[in-house]
Amino acid sequence: MTVRPIQGGRYSGIAILFHWTIAALVLVNLWIGLIGGSMPAHKAIGITVLVLTLGRIGWRLGHRPPPLPSGTPGWERMAAHATHLLFYILLIVLPLSGWAMVSGEKRYPLDWFALFPIPYLPIPPSLAHLGHEAHELLGFAMLGLVALHVAAALRHHFLLRDGVLSRMLPGPRAAR
Ligand code: HEM
Ligand code: HEM
Repeated sequence: MTVRPIQGGRYSGIAILFHWTIAALVLVNLWIGLIGGSMPAHKAIGITVLVLTLGRIGWRLGHRPPPLPSGTPGWERMAAHATHLLFYILLIVLPLSGWAMVSGEKRYPLDWFALFPIPYLPIPPSLAHLGHEAHELLGFAMLGLVALHVAAALRHHFLLRDGVLSRMLPGPRAAR
């Protein structure tokens, strides 16, 4: 079987692992949040996303992503960079707002899948409401950004056919 070369190279294996682990956890958490499912699991998953995102950003600072295909118009480059930057911001601020909300309310103890306790943030009860509002708003912002991002990925794959989706998929030649 021949492997088609991907113009501009691939993401590293670690970047791909971070991307898909965090993406899966975010999708599960959006789902739980919107249907009002298991909140202990929602909180533990959210804190996991926060910790993984800090690790991911650390990795990203030392490993530049592959360049976009050379013919990519300037506005598309800007749109891609803005979307990705906004994702990193949301991946930190969204879990933090949830953590702030439950820390201010102090209604239920926080733990990580019943394995160990998670401390409350030093948030006064008067700010719990703000955390709650922010969490809802940021949750919907995340939902919108995911929709845009997935639409862009599918456009690259099916319309432009430029290998941009493939370079974020696990494959035999992921760089280290
Ligand atoms: C990837 C991270 C997260 C995502 C995508 C997410 C998303 C959401 C969404 C979409 C909702 C429903 C909002 C609404 O319609 O009212 C929600 C609710 C909630 N989230 Fe999160 N969340 C995340 C992290 C967290 C964290 C870290 C905590 C706490 C430690 C948390 C605690 C809560 C709580 C308690 C609610 C219910 C709020 C209510 O009573 O209405 N979330 N979340
Ligand atoms: C659901 C939560 C998701 C989040 C939070 C997310 C976040 C991100 C971020 C932050 C990047 C930029 C990586 C970097 O260069 O630093 C990225 C890249 C990428 N994502 Fe996602 N993603 C999600 C889901 C998806 C899905 C479902 C797909 C495919 C259908 C996808 C396809 C891609 C592709 C192809 C790239 C590489 C773009 C490029 O080469 O410029 N993502 N994603």
